[in-house]
Amino acid sequence: AKQIAKLPRVKQEMVAPPFFPKHDQIAKGGPKVVEVRFVIEEKKMVLDDEGAEVWAMTFNGSVPGPMIVVHEGDYIELTLKNPESNAMEHNIDFHASTGALGGGALTEVSPGEQVVLRFKADRTGVFVYHCAPGGAMIPYHVVHGMNGAIMVLPRDGIKDKNGKQVHYHRTYFIGEQDYYLAKDEEGEYKTYDSAGEDYADSMEVMNTLLPSHVVFNGAVGALTGDGALKAKVGETVLIIHAQANRDTRPHLIGGHGDNVWSGGSFEDTPQTNLETWFIAGGSAGAATYTFKQPGVYAYVNHNLIEAVLKGAAAHFVVEGEWDD
Ligand code: CU
Repeated sequence: AKQIAKLPRVKQEMVAPPFFPKHDQIAKGGPKVVEVRFVIEEKKMVLDDEGAEVWAMTFNGSVPGPMIVVHEGDYIELTLKNPESNAMEHNIDFHASTGALGGGALTEVSPGEQVVLRFKADRTGVFVYHCAPGGAMIPYHVVHGMNGAIMVLPRDGIKDKNGKQVHYHRTYFIGEQDYYLAKDEEGEYKTYDSAGEDYADSMEVMNTLLPSHVVFNGAVGALTGDGALKAKVGETVLIIHAQANRDTRPHLIGGHGDNVWSGGSFEDTPQTNLETWFIAGGSAGAATYTFKQPGVYAYVNHNLIEAVLKGAAAHFVVEGEWDD
């Protein structure tokens, strides 16, 4: 603790996904303590055009929660606040951290409480974090949106298979979310007046393992239309794809994974030229692609039933000149 007290401290301003906080791709100076603040928000969210809604549980009001970015050797110091207006107890388990159930055992907060957790980013890669308040509440909170990701960069940046730095121009965080909404006798999605009220119904649907929705960034269509992801021809885009609960397989239609860290570790040599890559449930993976042609590219979970019928699709809108 004495050594940590001597380290410089910086505040990282959280931004809502798909965007990333401002960060250096190559670390400047030595390790830092990076201060981050999450406020837990239980809120009603609309999931699709038919008006299906869920009382989501969120870190900072978004599904997924915000991306945190640090470098290997930095310390993350998270203030986790559970406001009095919430109904439930929450906590946080960082897959990037070591011991104490990833922080879960140290961060249980009832409404009206807050806690500070500090851990060292002792390995590089992209990692999921999620709420894990115990027993059936663990999957219940995770499939109500309470998950996000952290990126721990090597201090000298991410590298291709030849060890050369991969410089990226844009970053996008895609958090895939499976929801398990119950229907009434008429086949309409049920609605509830407060967070937690859907618990019994939700348990029933969760036990079928059949999600009602599989979406990117909280809702069907969140990353299309006004929410579409933007890029220009010639730009390299870093895409972080997280799924806290369920396996998935991202695919960029008309593009590739130039460099893919499917398991998330930046210590691994990236795979190249992938058409589709695997993200294991409970993990995040990274991919870069340098756009060669303009146009609208669909980015999907290539279980096409989940993409087209359940909602797991985004759009990249890429500007530039077509190259014949
Ligand atoms: Cu929770």
